[in-house]
Amino acid sequence: MRILGIESSCDETAAAVVENGNHLLSSVIASSSDLHVAYGGVVPEIAARSHIEVMMPVINQALADAECTFEDIDGIAVTNGAGLGGSLLIGVMTARTLAIINNKPLYDINHVLAHVYASFINQSDVKDIKSSKMPGFPILAVVVSGGHTQLMLFKDHFDYKLLGQTQDDAIGEAFDKVAKIIGLPYPGGPNIAKLAKIGDQNAYELPIAKMEGYDFSFSGLKTAVLRLAQREAGVSLDFPSTKLSEKLSEAQKANIAASFQRVAIQTIINKAKKAFEEFNPASVVLAGGVATNAELRQQLNASLPVELICPDIKLCTDNAAMIAALGYYKAQKNQPVADPYKLAIEPSLTV
Ligand code: KG4
Ligand code: ZN
Repeated sequence: MRILGIESSCDETAAAVVENGNHLLSSVIASSSDLHVAYGGVVPEIAARSHIEVMMPVINQALADAECTFEDIDGIAVTNGAGLGGSLLIGVMTARTLAIINNKPLYDINHVLAHVYASFINQSDVKDIKSSKMPGFPILAVVVSGGHTQLMLFKDHFDYKLLGQTQDDAIGEAFDKVAKIIGLPYPGGPNIAKLAKIGDQNAYELPIAKMEGYDFSFSGLKTAVLRLAQREAGVSLDFPSTKLSEKLSEAQKANIAASFQRVAIQTIINKAKKAFEEFNPASVVLAGGVATNAELRQQLNASLPVELICPDIKLCTDNAAMIAALGYYKAQKNQPVADPYKLAIEPSLTV
């Protein structure tokens, strides 16, 4: 069974063809991230306009790469939440139209759940390895991205429990905001990770939020970094934060990046370890854009008694392969949307 996946929840326009939920036939991603750099973050209107321009070329490329036409496609899966309203609308309207005119079942996909399904794709289709390990149930899923920080326990497909989530900023958002404070361009996460390599991670003390159960909080850490940067720069609290980085030395910036990253990673590890001890899952999956962080991967893997399953970098950040993979399991459960004319976007969709 071949599913065409379509993703447009933020600034990536993506389409992919996946066979039987694990074999990746094609994956095409067009990002408008360059257009947002000047603004220091994603501008929803610019992202939506870009989706309109590239959506059909991206889908056609994904079909061509998979050597498919719509005749070879058994269903269409599309992200309908969570995400930016204008962006989601382009993907959903395109998928609805394609499903109707080609007479294919349409599957509505929750973006956060789909991040976990990137780990079901045969990673040897993406990178040069002989075989890859599939996660076994029960799965402890750690989803860390620009919009989400969630711990979930999956007993089976579609049988899951949300253990905890961030009560304020997502971890990726914290990386992006700290990057702004120390003058690194958007997207901040990869730039913080790069600079942290030459910094001293123990240079500064920063707080780990004490949250109930499996919940997270990153806004206090972000504010603590802002105060630290102001102190190190020798400026008052009302000094414009956009000019702060000019007052910091390269060494101070690297030390701030490394100290922040250490605490952000430790926050995730503490909760994941606690959940592992309580629920004793068969496997642990790390997914989402922040899962591309090499330090996080290594340290979380080292802190668990099982080998951490983490998708290839290309499948961690937003992509449509994960949408098609989850679409396959929806198809197995025979759960298409009842009326493709009525599939709506859900910008605030939760898990
Ligand atoms: O999953 P994703 O592509 O989009 C969302 O669904 O949010 O995640 C994007 C987030 C951004 O906040 C970006 O800064 C962060 O992932 N990110 C990283 C790294 N690469 C991307 N954060 C930390 N370290 C990285 N290497
Ligand atoms: Zn995402």
